[in-house]
Amino acid sequence: MTDSRLAIVVLAAGQGTRMKSSRPKVLHDLAGVPLLGHVLATARELSAAHVVTVVRHERDLVAAAVDEFLPGSTVVDQDDIPGTGRAVEVAVSTLPADFDGDVVVVSGDVPLLDAGTIAGLLAAHRRATAAVTLLSAIVDDATGYGRVVRDADGALSRIVEHGDATDDERAITEVNSGTYVFTVASLRASLPGLASANAQGERYLTDVVGMLRSAGESVEAVPAPDAWAVEGINDRVQLARAAARLNAMIVRGWQLAGVTVHDPASTWIDLRATLAEDVELRPNTHLAGATTVARGARIGPDTTLLDCEVGEDAVVTRTDATLAVIGAQATVGPFAYLRPGTELGAGGKIGTYVETKNAKIGAGSKVPHLSYIGDTTIGEGTNIGAGAITANYDGFVKHATTIGSHVHTGTHNSFVAPVTIGDDATIGAGTVVRRDVPAGALAVTVAPLKFVEGWTARHRAAAEAAADAQD
Ligand code: UD1
Ligand code: CA
Repeated sequence: MTDSRLAIVVLAAGQGTRMKSSRPKVLHDLAGVPLLGHVLATARELSAAHVVTVVRHERDLVAAAVDEFLPGSTVVDQDDIPGTGRAVEVAVSTLPADFDGDVVVVSGDVPLLDAGTIAGLLAAHRRATAAVTLLSAIVDDATGYGRVVRDADGALSRIVEHGDATDDERAITEVNSGTYVFTVASLRASLPGLASANAQGERYLTDVVGMLRSAGESVEAVPAPDAWAVEGINDRVQLARAAARLNAMIVRGWQLAGVTVHDPASTWIDLRATLAEDVELRPNTHLAGATTVARGARIGPDTTLLDCEVGEDAVVTRTDATLAVIGAQATVGPFAYLRPGTELGAGGKIGTYVETKNAKIGAGSKVPHLSYIGDTTIGEGTNIGAGAITANYDGFVKHATTIGSHVHTGTHNSFVAPVTIGDDATIGAGTVVRRDVPAGALAVTVAPLKFVEGWTARHRAAAEAAADAQD
């Protein structure tokens, strides 16, 4: 049920300088979803009446991600006044004037924080009727974080940013996670007072804490149970660490759901992938995007599947596949390359050193060795001989090849598209098929095979004579 007294502000306007990237930081990928996608999914779980994402750097790209991951939520542009305080001020100005609830502020670069922890923070805030309740964390290395400064009696006093902190303050290991609950009235009253006389010349949201405390309002900091969950991603070292952590949780989840994972450390499963019981994943397997794997299928080793669908009991070995559908009991690889639009029917085979693209291969049909099959439809129970090439491109446009059911093609055939092979046809070895082949026919290009008797001995003698003449 929607919480009419709750608004969530997602901060995503920064450039993310420390990533050293042309891509905005919040759009970097974590388990197949941009950082911002993770945060918006968490925001959605909290059922707030208002979710406002603040954008500025590469605003069109970031706004498009908001539309994708939380359609219908609000996007607001930060102006050229920098700082998290300004970002929140701009967001709060879009809330209805009569909104008098709580504002949760989260960062677009803190992707692993779960909705349950935020809900707990919100509950604590409401119980205490505080002006602000912030989520802190005790960390080993506090470098870069704002520090939580407490009085001698332990009460929260203020936040000091790393760049503005004294050596004593830098020794504090309790840090600001960048996640807060504010009572909107207190926030509205404080934001206009933010100054930018600090190391970064920005209007820091963190200063609101000290301002509210000085005004005699109740301010609280609650340490998060798991420090890793609030880790912000500022550079690619942190990105890789978060990716490994999230992956370990995802892999564990699938193991407990009945998936055999031989080597969790080298197995990468994206957030949106789904697996059934008794799936077996061998080392070095990456199930990317929205890949689905049905019961009993065996994947790997050394396999990457992006947005693929794998049927029951299929076996996929040392394969790279994108947007491919692999039927039940089918086998793929080793060393197969399935490009978008590949559909392999039940019990079919795409074997070793085979590349397919936009290829519908019917049930029980096999392309076992050394072939390129593109823009092609193959019926059922057909066997394609080794070294088959569909010549689908004439240098200007792509053409289709249609091969019927129960066809046997020889080794080293070229199919020059557009061309159709009828059901039950047989193609001789080495044939270049340039015309349609009728059903049931044998197609073969017969060039006479010639013998030159004694050729080797004569050439050997001539070569030896030439070598003697040179000595
Ligand atoms: C911030 C906090 C710090 C905290 C840390 C936790 C401030 C001043 N500091 O520091 O106390 O320990 O997060 O991760 O808030 N952003 C905007 N507009 C801006 C600037 C930033 O929307 O003008 C967004 C960024 O896109 C990012 C988030 O705010 O998603 C945090 O900004 P970042 O620059 O990463 O702040 P930190 O230095 O990490
Ligand atoms: Ca940050």
